[in-house]
This record gives sequence, structure tokens and C-alpha cells, in this order.
Amino acid sequence: MVGYAFMGAAHSQAWRTVNRVYDLPARARMALICGRDAGKVADAADRLGWEAYTTDWRDLIASDDIDVVDICTPGDSHAEIAIAALAAGKHVLCEKPLANTVAEARSMAAAAATAQAAGVRSMCGFNYRRVPAVAMMRQLVADGRLGVIRHVRATYLQDWIVDPQFPLVWRLQRDRAGSGALGDIGAHIIDLTQYVTGRRITGVSAVTETFVRERPLPAGSSGLAATVDGGAANGSAVDGGGADGHHPATGAVTVDDAAVFVARLDGGVLATYEASRFATGRKNALRVEINGSLGTVAFDLERLNELEFYDASRPAAEQGFSRILVTEGEHPYMSAWWPPGHLIGYEHSFTHQMRDFVEAVATGVDPAPSFADGLQVQLVLDAVTRSAELGSSWTEVEPALATVAA
Ligand SMILES: NC(=O)c1ccc[n+]([C@@H]2O[C@H](COP(=O)([O-])OP(=O)(O)OC[C@H]3O[C@@H](n4cnc5c(N)ncnc54)[C@H](O)[C@@H]3O)[C@@H](O)[C@H]2O)c1
Repeated sequence: MVGYAFMGAAHSQAWRTVNRVYDLPARARMALICGRDAGKVADAADRLGWEAYTTDWRDLIASDDIDVVDICTPGDSHAEIAIAALAAGKHVLCEKPLANTVAEARSMAAAAATAQAAGVRSMCGFNYRRVPAVAMMRQLVADGRLGVIRHVRATYLQDWIVDPQFPLVWRLQRDRAGSGALGDIGAHIIDLTQYVTGRRITGVSAVTETFVRERPLPAGSSGLAATVDGGAANGSAVDGGGADGHHPATGAVTVDDAAVFVARLDGGVLATYEASRFATGRKNALRVEINGSLGTVAFDLERLNELEFYDASRPAAEQGFSRILVTEGEHPYMSAWWPPGHLIGYEHSFTHQMRDFVEAVATGVDPAPSFADGLQVQLVLDAVTRSAELGSSWTEVEPALATVAA
């Protein structure tokens, strides 16, 4: 694994758990973890359960003992690490968004296609596909229970940078993150809605905004939390400010704080998407609603064990939204967990992700979402950015290489 902070911890928990919960044809050994700071990665290896650590990701690539490389770093290093790992015959799981640019994502998808011919697998980490209620949503659509899909309504709202004094962490820097709320959380709802409906976004009209354009430089930045540097400028990609200890140095925010767009999906679906880090009070509010001719289904990540379902084929007198508790053994992924009604949480989506990845690698099939699927999401992100730059002009999404569905 490369990276040991937010996703590093979430993935480690999943790697620790996956073989204890699911009966799989292969067993994961947590062999080697990489971070740039020797002291911190040593501590992380101990805390997260890795056998050894290194400060250079190339050691993972060079090791004959390693079969799988799990990339949990910011987007600016995904392409280099993934392409090198695939070329060395390692199966790769790479966090989303696949890359920071379409060009990088294209070279990753090409490397994945070449590796695939040699039996080397790759997957992009859109873990919300593996929430049982989301997988069930997809089943309902695939089984025709919603009829003809007309609308997709998707929002992913957070509020962790509402305070203008929140520091300029890597997620607010274009060269490290590619984009802001759009690529970080918008990418999730793009993938999730395409996965659930089996339809692709074909065109968009977008607006984006950066509400706070200058922020204090961070003293230390990781994940979604950081502290402000009280003194000298310590960033390389940002302009230094006052280094007198009273006025923290500041730098420019170079990504969007929020992105809103309308879209068409193939098959005549109209959709709206909103991704924001300025939705005060909304912590991790991913919501998706899909309206079809025969019904509606709605999901809210903050109530992730549930699904709202309106079945318009029922007698008029009995119609209404029902709340399905997605904890039955027959629901996707749930047979390995607890008795019905005993809830699961955020981290389980990662265990499910590892289950599907290990099973695919061990049985010699391609896991989904593929790098080509990751590229397709990247093409949508790029179309949104271009549309916003051109005054919301309608922008077609170039088709990628493969289908979204597994
Ligand atoms: N699937 C999800 O729900 C989800 C949630 C959060 C983040 N992510 C994605 O996961 C990735 C990491 O995000 P995060 O929140 O874990 O970030 P983070 O800042 O918490 O952790 C990043 C880690 O990468 C390490 N790192 C950075 N550059 C490195 C390099 N060149 N070599 C070795 N280690 C390096 C850092 O030391 C740190 O350990 C991003 O692509 C992000 O979009 C996905």
C-alpha cells in the first residue's frame, strides 16, 4: 500500500478484515506500506497492521514478494505509481479519482489494457458502489422495477472548508488534486449514478465557484483535517504571505469549492448534480434519487443501511414510499455480516471492495470499476470544467473505452 492517512487507514482496516469475514480463494498478506516520512510510516505500519514499511514506493514495485499494489495517495502520484506497478506485473487498486487529468487517466487505462492481456488486473476505488443499499438500487433498476428511467438527482455535500481560516491543504491545490469538490466528491456521484442506472453521461452544462480564494498555509495537512501554520510560508506551490508570526502566510486556492451541473445520460435521462464543500451542516451527505416510469428509488449515505422505494405498480390505495432496511442475508454483501437489522457502516464498503478485488484477482477476471471506467469519469469531470469555463455552454462527453457496468 502507498499512503497511510485517511484512505490508507480505511483500506488497511478492510485488508485486515476481508479474509476473516468472507471465504475467498486467496488470502491477503499486508506485506509492505509506503510513506515519505520514515517515523510516521513506521508508526502507521505498526498501528495499521503492516509487516514492514518503506519510504520509497518503488520498493513495492521492485519486490518479487508483492502481488498487489494499493494506491492511497493524492491524485498527482496515481499515474506514475499505477503504470509502474502494472508494468511490473502487479495487480493495482487505485483510489478515485483515477487521475488528475484526462491525459493521465488515458495512459493509466492504456497501461491497464496492456497488463490485462497478461492477466494483470486493475480497479479504481469507487467504494460507494459496494454499499449494499447502492448495489440493491442497481439491482432494482436492472430488474426493470423502475421502468423507463427519466431522472437522476444527485448531490454530494460537505462543509469542512466553510471557515475561511481552514488551511490550504492538498485538496485545495489543483496541481495536487486536479480539481476541488468536483473531482473529490462529484466523481463519486458521477460514478455511482452511472453504475446504478447503467447509463452514461453524454453531455453537461456546468457552473463552478471558488468562494474563498486565499487561505492560510497549513502547518501539517492530511485527509480532511489540518492545522494552520502560524508563521513562515512552508508551501512550495503557493505564494508566501506574512511570515511575522502574527499573520499566517497565505496561498491561492486553485480548485473549485462547489460544482453544479445538469446532464443528459444516454437513453433520454435528465440529471442534476451538485458537489459542494460549502453546504453548512452537511457533513458527508451523498444523496441519489432515481425516478422511473414504474417507481422511484432514493439513497442517503448518512442512512446507508436504508433504501427508499416507491413502487408505482402497486394498487393506488397502497402506494407510498417504503423504507427497506438493507440488512437481510439475501441483500448484496450482507450474508457474511450480522443478523437482520444489525447495521453496518462506512468502513464496510471498503471491506466489500477488497472482497470483490481479491475474488477477481484470484479467479482471473477483471474487477470493476476498471481503469477505463475511471477514465470515463475523468472525461465527465473534464467536460464539467470546460463547460464552466465557457459560461456553462453545453459540452459533450467524449466516449471512453469500455462500458461502465461490470
Ligand atoms: N473512496 C473514498 O471515499 C475516498 C475518500 C477520501 C479520499 N479518497 C482518495 O484517496 C486518495 C488519498 O486521499 P486521502 O484522503 O487518504 O489523503 P491523505 O492526505 O489523508 O493521505 C495521503 C497519503 O499519501 C501519502 N503520500 C502522498 N504522496 C506520496 C508519495 N509520493 N509517496 C508515498 N506516499 C505519499 C501521504 O503521506 C499520506 O499518507 C485520493 O485520491 C482521494 O481522492 C477516496
